[in-house]
Amino acid sequence: MNALTRDLIRLTENAEKAARTDVRFRQKIHLQPPVGWLNDPNGLCQFNGVYHAFFQYSPFNAEGGVKMWGHCTSKDMVEWEYQGTALYPDQPFDCHGVYSGSAFIEDSVMYLYYTGNVKLEDREDYDYVNTGREANTILVTSKDGITFGHKQELMKNADYPSDLTLHVRDPKVWKDGELYYMIQGARTKEDTGQALIFRSKDRINWILHNRVSTKEPFGYMWECPDYFETGGRKILSASVQGLAGGVWEERNVYQSGYFLVDGDILDECRLSEYRLWDYGFDYYAPQSFETGDGRRIQIGWMGMPDCEEYTNPTIKDGWQHCFTFPREIFVEGGTIRQCPVRELEESEYPLQNGQKQLGKEPFHIEGYEVYDLTVRGIRENCFRAVLGEELVLEYRDGRFEMRFTDQDKESASAGRGLRYVDLEQLEDLRILTDISSVEVFINGGEYVFSTRYYPKKACVRMEADKADICFKLIQI
Ligand code: FRU
Repeated sequence: MNALTRDLIRLTENAEKAARTDVRFRQKIHLQPPVGWLNDPNGLCQFNGVYHAFFQYSPFNAEGGVKMWGHCTSKDMVEWEYQGTALYPDQPFDCHGVYSGSAFIEDSVMYLYYTGNVKLEDREDYDYVNTGREANTILVTSKDGITFGHKQELMKNADYPSDLTLHVRDPKVWKDGELYYMIQGARTKEDTGQALIFRSKDRINWILHNRVSTKEPFGYMWECPDYFETGGRKILSASVQGLAGGVWEERNVYQSGYFLVDGDILDECRLSEYRLWDYGFDYYAPQSFETGDGRRIQIGWMGMPDCEEYTNPTIKDGWQHCFTFPREIFVEGGTIRQCPVRELEESEYPLQNGQKQLGKEPFHIEGYEVYDLTVRGIRENCFRAVLGEELVLEYRDGRFEMRFTDQDKESASAGRGLRYVDLEQLEDLRILTDISSVEVFINGGEYVFSTRYYPKKACVRMEADKADICFKLIQI
């Protein structure tokens, strides 16, 4: 430990001690920072039976700042316990940010791979794309999942292909046969996004193995790539910057979605069209891992970078952002679907009078903030719900919409407007609501919409003629 680490530990602990805990909009079942800012999920894994989630953390400023890795653990992915900061930006190769990365577990050791960010001093001739920064690949290991050892620099920009800019980051590692593979996101000098795949025999020495991109350029940068197989499908996930024009104008500033991989990602392959993981306002940089019982779990950052249109009023209370509720990714009927991890059901109980078949009369319930509401058997696309008097979920004109009635930054939306997906038929939906977030799973999880919201009143009003509704409270 050097003098910088010692000071960062002390300053972080002071910021955490000074954090106000009696503030509105703190979540109940979503991982959130004790103080300050959170962004991407990092190092997700199950290690010796315990779930670990690290997060991009800036404790000193609710609007971002130098990034470190905050650390939480959980026995059920519903309740998370903060364990302190795991990795500080305290070395020459990561001094401006312990950026995103992943965990790989083998022989009872946790291997954490991440990007060490260095942004050189302000100089006019630096554009911070081709000049003025470093992206280093770093490894650190842990035997107990709580204390982390020496940081080892594995690769620097000079080790990446020379036609790339300095933007190469977010390593995710897996093993296939006897070899280890690492995927990283990259931006070429021609401003196109792609994924790099490296291979290694020993987890330490890596060589470039393959480069994966779309036939036509697709965005200028792919952040936080992830590759996994589930239900016989090969999925390449990427958070893409720089999609513009057409339908992208009606979506978020950056996108998170996936390509289906046809062929072998380690060799020749073709990518399908890009599909969004989530159609809501707040979803970025998801990462996945496999549980001991073989489920593929994905967690995203329920936020959006570089977004001027909307905000979060929690900033004035000294904190901002949270993760999405962990989701199982699975294939059913040939379709990739998502649903909240099944562990949630252990914390739920049906509310009396919360289970009924709707008639013409709307369903109305007040005073509950954290709940899981399922609507099945929707007929003729007849569905409209209003949460907290300002968030409307509705099927109309061949679309499913999530929209706020008021886009003022002081209102429940904090500036959010409308998101939608074209949909022929609305069959069912599941709405997972926490104090300041709503996640909606449509048609058996084929489409998902996530948003933060800041309601003045806890209430739901719903019209869905003859549909079955089940309202479950979540108590932890
Ligand atoms: C995505 C991202 C990553 C980077 C991290 C820095 O949100 O930009 O590419 O590693 O956040 O916090």
